[in-house]
Amino acid sequence: MRVASRLFQCYNFRVGWVICHPAKSFAKIIKRNDAFMSNVSTASTRFYFGSDHAGRELKDILLAHAKKRGLASEDLGTYTDDSVDYPDYAEKVGRSVVADPGSLGVLVCGTGIGMSIAANKVHGIRAALLYNESTARLARQHNNANIITMGGREISPDQAIAWFDIFVMTVFEGGRHSRRLEKIARIEGP
Ligand code: RB5
Repeated sequence: MRVASRLFQCYNFRVGWVICHPAKSFAKIIKRNDAFMSNVSTASTRFYFGSDHAGRELKDILLAHAKKRGLASEDLGTYTDDSVDYPDYAEKVGRSVVADPGSLGVLVCGTGIGMSIAANKVHGIRAALLYNESTARLARQHNNANIITMGGREISPDQAIAWFDIFVMTVFEGGRHSRRLEKIARIEGP
């Protein structure tokens, strides 16, 4: 009797899973898209993209993804695989973001490290190197990063797209984090 009830439970679970799982996944996708569209204040946020040669391919993938999402996006290069210097693109994107309040930047080099170091030299930039889903969320929630950087030689396009979406969907929490950002601005000086 116990065996029969176990078998029934297992059968029930499996049938339930087969019926419910696709429906749940579909609902999740719809929910994710809704959150995405409502959070970005999509219509107004402009995205500036830049990379060196090592990040060009991933930058182009992210740019295409952003455009598919309907985000206003501008490609500041590089446009070929010829070797270039990442600080030039970090500076271009950094200055564009500062000149366009409310906009955001995406920078890709081989590791994402050089881009974050260089972009953070631009007054008013808070560039965050993403390395997992949690940092993609916290870069926005706690640090209110206005640029994200990623490593084209270190991560897959699927990871980069997922982290970009998480960053875009998240909102800055304010509160104690605002006080910390004010302290960063004080270090930066006038
Ligand atoms: C270029 O070879 C590489 O050094 C650059 O893309 C980046 O990873 C620097 O941080």
